[in-house]
Parts: sequence; C-alpha cells; structure tokens
Amino acid sequence: MKYERKVIDPEQIRRQEQICAEIFDVVTADGKRPLAMVDTYGCQQNEADSEKIRGYLAEMGYGFTQDEFQADVIVVNTCAVREHAEMRVLGNVGALNHSKKARPSQIVAVCGCMVQQEHMAEKIKKSYPVVDLVFGPHELWRFPELLQRVMRKGKRVFATEKNLGAVVEGIPQQREGKVKAWLSIMYGCNNFCTYCVVPYVRGRERSREPEQVVAEARELVAQGYKEITLLGQNVNSYGKDLDSEVDFADLIRMVNAIPGDFLIRFMTSHPKDATEKLFQTMAECEKCAHQLHLPVQAGNDRILKAMNRSYTREKYLQQVALARRYMPDLVLTTDIIVGFPGETEEEFADTLSLCEEVRYDAMFTFIYSKRVGTPAASMPDPYTRADKQKHFDALTELSNRISGEKHREYEGKTLRVLIDGETGREEYNLSSRTNGGRLVHLKGDPAWIGRFADVTITASNTWALYGEIGGNAE
Ligand code: 5AD
Ligand code: SF4
Repeated sequence: MKYERKVIDPEQIRRQEQICAEIFDVVTADGKRPLAMVDTYGCQQNEADSEKIRGYLAEMGYGFTQDEFQADVIVVNTCAVREHAEMRVLGNVGALNHSKKARPSQIVAVCGCMVQQEHMAEKIKKSYPVVDLVFGPHELWRFPELLQRVMRKGKRVFATEKNLGAVVEGIPQQREGKVKAWLSIMYGCNNFCTYCVVPYVRGRERSREPEQVVAEARELVAQGYKEITLLGQNVNSYGKDLDSEVDFADLIRMVNAIPGDFLIRFMTSHPKDATEKLFQTMAECEKCAHQLHLPVQAGNDRILKAMNRSYTREKYLQQVALARRYMPDLVLTTDIIVGFPGETEEEFADTLSLCEEVRYDAMFTFIYSKRVGTPAASMPDPYTRADKQKHFDALTELSNRISGEKHREYEGKTLRVLIDGETGREEYNLSSRTNGGRLVHLKGDPAWIGRFADVTITASNTWALYGEIGGNAE
C-alpha cells in the first residue's frame, strides 16, 4: 500500500481541547482536584507521547500521582519491541484489579505500540476486563474524545484500527523535566528490519515541517531547557517525505542557529542513511553533541542481510571511521541483537570482533525476541535459549570491559558537563552528562541543576564517571 502523507487538521485538535474543557467541568465539579497516573514503557518516543497524554490530562484538570490507589485515571503507555516488556505490561495491568476494586470509578486506559498489534488488543478485550480504554499510537491525538466516550457511556472503547499514521501538530505537552526535552521530528519507520515490529505499529515515516520543529526548539530554549534531543525512529531519513529540500543535517543547522546556550542531541540513526554531510554538520555546529547512537545489530554480513539492514560490516566500519575523522572525540553507542534466528557460533564471533574493533563507549544488548507478523518469526531458529544466553553474557562482559577502559581514560581530564538532576545519594548528590552523553556524578549545590560546569574527572567505573566541579557552575 502506498502511503500518502496525512496531516491532522488543527481544527480537530482544537475540538479535542474543547472536549478537555468539557471533561474539566465534570471531573472538578465537586471542587476537588482529580488525579491521573501515566506509566510509560519503552523508548524515548513513548516518553514523548506520554508527555502529550499528560498535557491533555492537565487540560482536563487532573493532577498527577504515582500511586495507582489514588488515581482516577490510569494510562499505561506500552512498548512492543520485545516480549519481556509486553509481559511486564500485562502483569502490571492485571494487578490494577486491586486499585480498581478499591476505587470502582477508576478508568484504566492502555495505549501505545503493544495494543496496536491485533492479537494484543484481542487479548486485552478477552482477558483483562479491568481495562476500559485501548488506543494505538495513531489515535493519541483524539485521547480526550475517547476518554469522554468511556466516561459518558460507561462502556469499553477500543480504537486500534490499522493505520499508517499522520502528522499531528498542536497537542498540549506537559514535559517531565526542566533541563532536558524530547522533541519528535518524525514518526514511523519504513525499514522493515525483519525482526522488528515497529513499522507495523507506528506506520510509515513522516516528518514534521522544519518550521514547526524549529519553532518548538525555540520555545524550549526560551523556557530555559538546556538540552534538546531530536527524536525519530530513523532521523537520518528526516525530510524525505517533505516537498522542501531540508534533510536532517540541514535541520540540525537550523536548530543550531537558535540563539542560546544549549545542546542538541538526536536518536536514532540508521547506518544505511548516515551521510558525510551529517558528520560534517555535527562537527561544525557548536551546539551539537559529538554523540552518535548507531545501532549495528550484528557484525556478520549473512546475519545483517537476513535482518534486512541494507549495509555490510565493511560499510558500517567505514561510516564509523568517517564519523571519527570529523569528530575525534565522538562518543559512539550501539544496539546489538544476540541470537537472531540461525545465528551460529562463528557468526556471533563476528559481532564480538566488530565490537572489539569499534570500541563503543556503551552498548545496548538484547536477546532476539520473536515478534508476531515479522519475517524473522518464521525463520528456522535451531539454537536454544541457553546458547543465546551464553553469547549474551560474553557480549555483556566485553561491553563492560571496554566501557570501563574508556571511562578510565577520562580520569584526570576536565570536561564541560550539563548538571541535570539529583542522584538521591549523599556523597555524589548531583548527576550530569558530558557533551558526549556520559554520566558524571558530582557533589554540589542542587541549585546548579540546569547549568553547565567544568568538571575534573577523579574516578570511574563501568557505568559512570565521578568528578569535581572547578569553581562555580555557569
Ligand atoms: N528482539 C530483540 N531486540 C529487538 N530490537 C528491536 N526488535 C527486537 C527484537 N525483535 C532492538 C534493536 C533496536 C532496539 C531499539 O531494540 O536492537 O535497535
Ligand atoms: Fe525497527 Fe529497523 Fe525501523 Fe529501527 S530501523 S525501528 S530496528 S525496523
């Protein structure tokens, strides 16, 4: 099916906000402030979606709680990338029986990628009567209307029809923090890696207009945000669906031109479309972090082909070398899947050797999880879970060793960091990130949160750096 870019009429969003006002009148009629809980699983895109759900809920008059027994509305925003996350969601949704028994008027909604899969929506319909409302990622923009339907009719509502997605502007957003912000620049994925469910649940790639992205970034800077992470399933194909000639590198330049002291990060990049122009732009734009998350997934060409990744090991290594030529201080991270159907001992050894060669600053490793409806689900998979676990452990060990070694190289150096929060621990009470995104624990005044500071690294381990602030934070 050919996808035609679809934009939701802003009038429709105004109508949703009108519905928020109607809900406000009903749920605050007794003079008390109702409470909502939003529980998010999965990736940053989902975090960004939850900020929109909270934005709508705030307009409806809800305050927020983390305690399901206090909540009048619970929204569980789910992930479908691996089975483990789905199991956790189902367990936690099942447990909401208790809070609903204690508070029978409680409304439970489940949304996001997991329920966009037909078999999961069915499962909830049949086996989870505690759930009142189910909606997929494509229906998020009309959450107020769906919630009002549940409230008025007292019946369960399911909105998970097949949909390739649209671009929506103007949904109110309630952001989690005051220092770092997510900014979605595009939605969906066209790549159809054979193991991945994302293209089936999040629809086709569609980009926001550059003017909209820049306006939102400008607003974030005006509000005092110090770090903006541009989000998309594959940011390197930004703009391909737009009439304008703007590509992702151009977009970085446009955001970089906004006056103010802030950092630009982005994720995720697909190696097949990362360009020299992008690396050059990252090197030239002073606000762009020298950080690249470039998922390789596997180090063996047969596996990469079976995954439909559209690059070879050689091509990937060339990309890394090119990126490092432009940015010798580049912090490079990756995702790797272990135990893809049929992956042999020798093929896995190629992943290990690639990682030794690249020396990632950090690696996110996953055991392959079979996803309904994807091509890999019907590939022969003769290896046992124990075989895969053995490979996973070997890779984790390698990853930890390299991260530890790389962290040790920071000791004695002075770096600029952004102080972004409190750790809750006495000795090192503040957390911060280097320009490349490495975690640095510090001791200092919580009033410094949101400021940049020069920090000397005094110690390190596999997961973090420890430092001392030289003088006051800016
Ligand atoms: N099984 C295991 N890991 C997966 N990922 C995506 N699909 C699967 C799957 N079926 C991983 C990839 C991707 C990351 C977000 O999740 O490594 O980059
Ligand atoms: Fe999934 Fe591949 Fe798209 Fe990433 S690029 S979301 S792994 S299909």
